[in-house]
Amino acid sequence: MSNESALPAAMPSATDAALAPGAEWWRTAVIYQIYPRSFADASGDGIGDLPGITGRLDSLAALGVDAIWLSPFYTSPQKDAGYDVADYCDIDPLFGTLADFNAMTARAHELGIRVIVDLVPNHSSDQHRWFQAALAAGAGSVERARYIFRDGKGKNGELPPNNWQSVFGGPAWTRVTGADGQPEQWYLHLFDSSQPDLDWNNRWVRDQFLDVLRFWLDRGVDGFRVDVAHGMIKADGLPDYTPPAEGGSMGGGTATLEPGISDEATDDPPYWAQDGVHEIYREWRILLDSYPGGRILAAEAWVDPLSKVANWVRPDEMHQAFNFAYLETPWAGKDLRAVIDDSIEAFSAVGAPSTWVLSNHDVVRHASRLALTADNLQGHGIGPKTVGLPDQEVGLRRARAATALMLSLPGSAYIYQGEELGLPEAIDLPDSARQDPTWFRTNGERYGRDGCRVPLPWEADAPAFGFNGTGASWLPQPTGWSALARDKQLGVQGSTLELYRRALELRREHALGSGDVTWLDGYPDDVVAFRNGSVTVIANTGTKPIALPAGDVVLSSAPIDGELPGDATVWLV
Ligand code: GLC
Repeated sequence: MSNESALPAAMPSATDAALAPGAEWWRTAVIYQIYPRSFADASGDGIGDLPGITGRLDSLAALGVDAIWLSPFYTSPQKDAGYDVADYCDIDPLFGTLADFNAMTARAHELGIRVIVDLVPNHSSDQHRWFQAALAAGAGSVERARYIFRDGKGKNGELPPNNWQSVFGGPAWTRVTGADGQPEQWYLHLFDSSQPDLDWNNRWVRDQFLDVLRFWLDRGVDGFRVDVAHGMIKADGLPDYTPPAEGGSMGGGTATLEPGISDEATDDPPYWAQDGVHEIYREWRILLDSYPGGRILAAEAWVDPLSKVANWVRPDEMHQAFNFAYLETPWAGKDLRAVIDDSIEAFSAVGAPSTWVLSNHDVVRHASRLALTADNLQGHGIGPKTVGLPDQEVGLRRARAATALMLSLPGSAYIYQGEELGLPEAIDLPDSARQDPTWFRTNGERYGRDGCRVPLPWEADAPAFGFNGTGASWLPQPTGWSALARDKQLGVQGSTLELYRRALELRREHALGSGDVTWLDGYPDDVVAFRNGSVTVIANTGTKPIALPAGDVVLSSAPIDGELPGDATVWLV
C-alpha cells in the first residue's frame, strides 16, 4: 500500500451536507454504472481512470443520478478487465492512486452523488499473494485451503476433479505444476483460469473480506455491488453437474452467468445459489449497519425465479439485488406486465425495493439487444457474423421506449454508462482488438462482452471523441459515434440524453421511486399501461398506434402526433 492510502482528516461521507439524510436512500435511487476503463481517460493512455471520472462527475450530477457504481479499479493483471483482483485494498496504476480515489469520492459527495464500489469475493487473481502463497505451499497446506484445490481423478490425477465448465468456456479446473516440474493438484475457477475461486467455508477467507469491507467503508464508500453473489459456496463434495442443453436467450442452466429465467423453480447447479451464501451476507450486513449514513450491499445474483432472488435481500441480508429477469424480458407488453408484477411481488414479500436494469458491462446494450431477430445467449455477445443482427433505428427507438418505461417504475433503477447517449453495441470490432476472456476461451466462437465496453463519446470533434486528449482508445470507437457524442445531445430537444435527464427530473418530482403500479384496463395486449401516483404511463410495444388518454404528455420517447405510435412510451399527468 502506498503513503497515499492515509485517510484525509475530514473524509466527506454520504452523511455530509450535500446528501439528503440517509433514510433508506437506496429504495428509490437511480444508480449509474461507471465502467472505469471506458468512461473518461485523464492520463491519455487509452484506458479510462479515476481522475477522468472526477473530471466528468458534473455531467452525471446534471443528468440527475443519485449514486454511481464503479466496476473494479483495484490492482489487477486485467485478465478479466479488473474482475481479477490482485490487491483488494489498492488501486491499479492504470486507474490512478488511492489519493485519486479519495478525490473522486469527495467530489461525488460534494455533488450529492453516493459512491458504490464493486467487490469481487468469489475469486481473486492468480497473481494475488494469497494464491501465489497457495501455489508455493503445496498440497494439504493452510495456504491451499483458502482456495479450492483438489487432487485430479484418473490413475495419475490427470483428469479434473469434476466435470464443471467455466462460465467463459472450457473446463473450470486447471492443473498446477509443482516446483519439481511435475503436474500436481487442480484448482477450481468458475471463470477464467486467472481467477481461482476462494473457499468461503474457510473462516480465514471470511475475516480477510471483513477487513476489505472496513477498508472501503472507512474511506467513505456508500456501498458495494457484490460480484457473483450467488457463487461463493459450492455444494459439498463438488458433485458432477450436467446442465440442460442451451436454448435461446432465456435458456440455460449452463455455466453462463445466467441460469435461465423462468417462472418455475429449477434445480440449481452445485456452484450457484447454495444456501450457505446467505450467512456470509448476514455477517456483512451487521458490519455495514455499524457505519452511519445508509451503506448498502447490492447482489449480482443470476438466479431464478425472482422469488429466490428475493432471498438475497431479506431484511438481514443485502439491500438490493439486480433484477436480471427484467433485463432479459423481451420488448413485449404481456411479458413486461408479468415481470413487473412478479418483481414487485417477490421483492415486497421480503420488504425490499424492486430494482430495474436494462444494460450493464456483461450484456449486449439494450439499444441493440431489443432489436435482435434471433436468440442470443447472455455473455456470448454479438459480432459481424452473428445471425439476426439488429436494425439500429428500431433498436434505438425501442431502447428509448424501454428506458422511459423502466424509469417510471417504483423502486431503484440502474443505468449503464452510455445508454443515456443511446449507444448501440459496437458490432464491428476487429478480432484483433477483442479482449474478453470469453473470446479467447472459445476460440472466437463467442464474441463476448467487448461490444458494450467501448469508451464513451463526449465531444464529437475531439480526439477519441473527448474520451481523452490523445485519441488513444483501448477498444476502437465506431466512427458513427460522433453523432451520439454528449455535446451533440446536450440541451437538444428530442435527444436521448435529454430524454434521460427529463425522465430523472420527473421521476424525482413525482416521487415515482416510492410509488406503486396500478394497471389500467382497456388497452391491447401489447400495451403496458398503468398509473404510478400522479403519472399515467403508457408503453406501446406493438406496431399499431393507440389513442392517448386525457392528460398532458410530460415525457415521450418518440414524437407524438395525437396518438401513441408503436415502440414508444409516454408519461402523462
Ligand atoms: C461478474 C462480472 C463480470 C465478470 C464476472 C467474473 O459477472 O459482472 O464482468 O467477468 O463476474 O468476475
